[in-house]
Amino acid sequence: MRLGGAARYVIEIEEDKDLAEAYHFAAEKKMPVYVLGGGSNVIGRDGGFNGVIMVNKLRGIYVINSDKDKIRLCAKSGELLDDFVDYSVKLFDGEQFGFSGIEALSGVPGTVGAAPVQNVGAYGQEIAQVLHHVCVYDYKDNCFKKMPASELNLGYRRSIFNTGDGVGRYFITSVTVELHKNWLKPPFYTSLQAYFDERGVTEFSPAVVREAVLAIRGSKLPDPAEFASSGSFFKNVYLDEAEAEKARANGIPVWDGGKVPSGWLIEHAGLKGKEFFGMRVSDKAALVLINESAKSYADLAKAREAVIEAVREKFGYTLEQEPMELGE
Ligand code: EPU
Repeated sequence: MRLGGAARYVIEIEEDKDLAEAYHFAAEKKMPVYVLGGGSNVIGRDGGFNGVIMVNKLRGIYVINSDKDKIRLCAKSGELLDDFVDYSVKLFDGEQFGFSGIEALSGVPGTVGAAPVQNVGAYGQEIAQVLHHVCVYDYKDNCFKKMPASELNLGYRRSIFNTGDGVGRYFITSVTVELHKNWLKPPFYTSLQAYFDERGVTEFSPAVVREAVLAIRGSKLPDPAEFASSGSFFKNVYLDEAEAEKARANGIPVWDGGKVPSGWLIEHAGLKGKEFFGMRVSDKAALVLINESAKSYADLAKAREAVIEAVREKFGYTLEQEPMELGE
């Protein structure tokens, strides 16, 4: 978002073995640690961060093993997620090009290590569906560990890494996924299906799905390198059966699984393209806030309240912020 104060210390982690020393440094200073990947989904508060930011520079992508139906791939956590996806859709194992499981995550900004933290998901896939395990450095127990996906309590934009006692405890060093040799089959996520239908696409190789997702994202989501934004600024709203019924009766779209698209709510509260305190509600995807001229986190906080209030007033739902925050 290009907002917020400075950090007291920054340490770049280039190899696993740097971690013990870096955490020792933070402990000596009695300072909190924050692990930063690409930073595209983290918003700095105005008071800055009186702690140690560890910037993840761990690199490497490896094929672990492959059998008749699946292939296991491991990426060090500082790799860009999109590079990992690109690798997976081009990989040749002697029989087949391209493996399925993360192709719909094409174009998601940030690092591989960030994917399990908030269980990154887009266009019908979530990292939780293919995650096998992560390797971490555990600050509390002062050791490296391998944690199977089943221990990570993965949910919508949620894991043990961004909730409860797990926050600040772990540095994810690598992520291992199990990808499929079989390609995806229709029906696809609504906008992806529409893209294929319009073009008469009938072969859904991982590379084809990747191309389509990149095209759709490119037409809707601002590139964070060019426009200051954190992608979706609000989470979607999830309703139980009874609430969903009520919403449908009021003409509100409810998708499978009880999802009410917050972008729809914001648009139908009349906010698409509007500016509040220097923050613009994107005119292409209303879930995205773009920092055009906000001077501080305080401006963003006022804009956030204005959007939340307008949606609450019109529909009665209270939107929740999606990106994480850092600092005082
Ligand atoms: N919609 C509108 N107006 C808008 C935007 C959306 O009416 O301005 C409605 C449309 O009905 C559309 C529906 O909302 O069909 C869903 O929109 P879209 O497919 O763009 O997805 P989203 O629910 O807004 C989520 C993720 C995105 C991810 C997309 C695609 C969250 C918070 N966001 O957005 O993730 O790329 O699905 O799968 O779950 C991110 O987390 O930063 C992010 C970009």
